[in-house]
Amino acid sequence: MDQVKLGREVMGNDSHLPQETVKKLIQNSQEAKKQAYCPYSKFRVGAALLTADNTVVTGCNVENACYNLGMCAERNTIAKAVSEGHRSFKAIAIASDMDDNFISPCGGCRQFLREFGSTWEVFLTKPDGSYQKMTVEELLPNSFGPEDLSAKKV
Ligand code: THU
Repeated sequence: MDQVKLGREVMGNDSHLPQETVKKLIQNSQEAKKQAYCPYSKFRVGAALLTADNTVVTGCNVENACYNLGMCAERNTIAKAVSEGHRSFKAIAIASDMDDNFISPCGGCRQFLREFGSTWEVFLTKPDGSYQKMTVEELLPNSFGPEDLSAKKV
């Protein structure tokens, strides 16, 4: 995994998207982070999702006094997009305040992303705008998805 992570740490652009689009998406995720409601963890996260029709949908984490009800930024963003009629995605950028690590989506969010395909791009970023590009498949290999529900059964 370390090897994959290091291999994916890019200065240039190995994305399917133009460099300018990636840069803007990351800026959008950083803007969205400013709305984070995280009085308990104080860990701000923002996300910006690029849909197939080039709409950008943003979201942030929203925590709750009943701690376990808190929602991650990625999941909120996907839910927002789907409720606005989008189901096909090109990329998502994720932003946090961590300087030393690229923000990496939790297991639940990886599964949430995977619902909408395995080949699209996820940009794990740092506040300085640097990023690691991974696919959903790389984040959640050998995954369970909607296709499995219609697979042949005994
Ligand atoms: N969080 C996210 O929103 N996305 C991530 O990728 C990791 C964690 C949130 C959940 C919680 O509000 C706070 O960060 C601390 O875990």
